[in-house]
Amino acid sequence: MNRKVAIIGAGPSGITALKNLLDKGIEAVAFDRNSDVGGNWIYSESESHSSVFETTHIISSKTLSQYEDFTFDEFDPETSDYPSHDELRRYFQAYAKKFDLYPFIRFETMVKSCKWIDDQTWEITIEKDGIEEKEIFTDLAVCNGHHWKPRYPDYPGEFTGEFIHSHHFKKAAPFKDKKVLVIGGGNSACDVAVETSRVSKKTAISWRRGYRIVPKFFFGKPSDKVAERTKWLPVEVRMWLNQILLKIMIGDNEAYGLRPVTEPFGATHPTINDELLHKIRHGKVKPRMDIERFDGKKVIFEDGKEEDYDAIVACTGYWLSHPFFDPEFIDYSKGPVPLYLKMFHEKYPNLFFIGMFQPLGCIWPGAELQSKIMARNLSGEWKRPENIQELCEKEVKNPHFKQVNTPRHTITVDYHLFIKALKKQLPKEYVSKSKRKSKLVSS
Ligand SMILES: Cc1cc2nc3c(=O)[nH]c(=O)nc-3n(C[C@H](O)[C@H](O)[C@H](O)COP(=O)(O)OP(=O)(O)OC[C@H]3O[C@@H](n4cnc5c(N)ncnc54)[C@H](O)[C@@H]3O)c2cc1C
Ligand SMILES: NC(=O)c1ccc[n+]([C@@H]2O[C@H](COP(=O)([O-])OP(=O)(O)OC[C@H]3O[C@@H](n4cnc5c(N)ncnc54)[C@H](OP(=O)(O)O)[C@@H]3O)[C@@H](O)[C@H]2O)c1
Repeated sequence: MNRKVAIIGAGPSGITALKNLLDKGIEAVAFDRNSDVGGNWIYSESESHSSVFETTHIISSKTLSQYEDFTFDEFDPETSDYPSHDELRRYFQAYAKKFDLYPFIRFETMVKSCKWIDDQTWEITIEKDGIEEKEIFTDLAVCNGHHWKPRYPDYPGEFTGEFIHSHHFKKAAPFKDKKVLVIGGGNSACDVAVETSRVSKKTAISWRRGYRIVPKFFFGKPSDKVAERTKWLPVEVRMWLNQILLKIMIGDNEAYGLRPVTEPFGATHPTINDELLHKIRHGKVKPRMDIERFDGKKVIFEDGKEEDYDAIVACTGYWLSHPFFDPEFIDYSKGPVPLYLKMFHEKYPNLFFIGMFQPLGCIWPGAELQSKIMARNLSGEWKRPENIQELCEKEVKNPHFKQVNTPRHTITVDYHLFIKALKKQLPKEYVSKSKRKSKLVSS
């Protein structure tokens, strides 16, 4: 049977899904609410899908953050070690141009609902210019991203100053001369605290646990490149080595007035930041404990400290969300996420998730490999294992890391182990740098 695949999203995951399906001569259409390719990496000062801000640079370095079919050297050899959001936007758009994907993407089109009919049929409802239409596809590839729906914290009392989520933080300028409290210990929180501290009257950062802050460079090399050298070692040994290296290079959190770390490396998603510790030691960012409650503009912390703030930026993460599915059908927002290779559903062979994993590293190299497996599955060159239910359960029960049980930790993978597991499903010659040979035309 001829396949016709609907892809939700033309971000880094959606474009590689599209490219690899077209490579195999499979009919595919990507829908995106945006007006161009790039997803999260299309910076915009107004509300949009994107959660990046004016000064965002990635936290994984470029040679570990590229598609194998189109590397940064092929795009622009001058790309920085840690590309900015704009370098990435241009990279993703260049990928789409190089592989002639634009005719297969329907922009400014929202996927409103996806109804699974049977193993050969999906009914997709799309909306463009306020008009809704239904279309039938055989398969669905979900590439809608997982860092766009803010997860707000909840505290007793009421805060009467400005309260925003990091999704809405676009630049530091509006925080000039304000007293700002940033909540969280992830990459958003540390980036936002550093940025607001450049202009604010005061910036403080509240952590509910201790985190290790990993610098972007060790010995003059990107830290993920240094860590890559030990990728052949078991995860526990690698994490232990990371811990030792950090202790030698950075010291303990207590030296910075930060909460001590109580879990092993990898127990929380790593926070990679070169400037936070420097800002703390220069008095520009003040470490604070968890928040106990609000009272007007006053924040009462769990150690009894009370301080007034003008603004709070909650960098408390994102919901895993698929609003186009009936929650009775699929709802992964609270975990667990039982998908084989983080992409195959045990029950629905015509449903694929691409890029829905959280590596200790970059997402799109893994999304590219997942896309190649999906394409080979649909072209008949790769078969779903018969014991897929067992494999899904095994993945949930045996995660690469034992992590703290908080909502952001339901889809974590170790970058190197995950890439290895995906490559195992592919033939040796899986890289395809040329434009497709098939005569597919856009629909
Ligand atoms: C500040 C920040 C920094 C980050 N830094 C890194 C990093 O250093 N390295 C890394 O690997 N990851 C990073 N991430 C994670 C980020 O999610 C991924 O880099 C990447 O964007 C994932 O690509 P994606 O295509 O899966 O999702 P997205 O980039 O989110 O793209 C999803 C696309 O789907 C479209 N879409 C969604 N729903 C619909 C719908 N219903 N109908 C139509 N279109 C829809 C959106 O418009 C969007 O274009 C960062 C995230 C944030 C917020
Ligand atoms: N420069 C960059 O490349 C960059 C910048 C920003 C984000 N990112 C990426 O984007 C993704 C999202 O990152 P993120 O930092 O926005 O979110 P995140 O990784 O989910 O981190 C959320 C932080 O908020 C804490 N938190 C959650 N709920 C809380 C509550 N109720 N009270 C107090 N603290 C709470 C979490 O604590 P727990 O540890 O207890 O869960 C965690 O420290 C990640 O993949 C990240 O790497 C990258």
